[in-house]
Amino acid sequence: MTNNLQYLDMNKIEHIGIAVNNLEKACSSYQKLFNTLVYKTEEVATEGVKTAFLQCGPNKIELLEATRPDSPIAKFLDKRGEGMHHIAFEVDDIKAEMLRLKNEGFTLLNEEPKPGADNKLVCFVHPKDCNGVLMELCQEMK
Ligand code: CO
Repeated sequence: MTNNLQYLDMNKIEHIGIAVNNLEKACSSYQKLFNTLVYKTEEVATEGVKTAFLQCGPNKIELLEATRPDSPIAKFLDKRGEGMHHIAFEVDDIKAEMLRLKNEGFTLLNEEPKPGADNKLVCFVHPKDCNGVLMELCQEMK
């Protein structure tokens, strides 16, 4: 483990993901909350999820609705109901970061980086290793 600020592996929080039952209704609420418009909606078919993004100052919120009952978001909603789903950290080199975390004993939910919403490669870290919080690593696709 290193605490050398010159070698920070994880950068800023890229976005916070919130699981919702009804994306349209959630978009309407969050648009009012942040006094802004959703700037992008996107379906990630492989994940069975429909997403909407809002920008609030430097912060980004991702709203997630399940598109099929067996998707990870549907399972989360069944188990825990609506609410905060994950925190996403931006990384420069997702493969290197995945390897580092694996060596530290974290359980990664995917072995290879996979395409996520908003032009990102993503990997999720199991919430059991992060005190109940699902962590996402994301790297901008070039
Ligand atoms: Co996300």
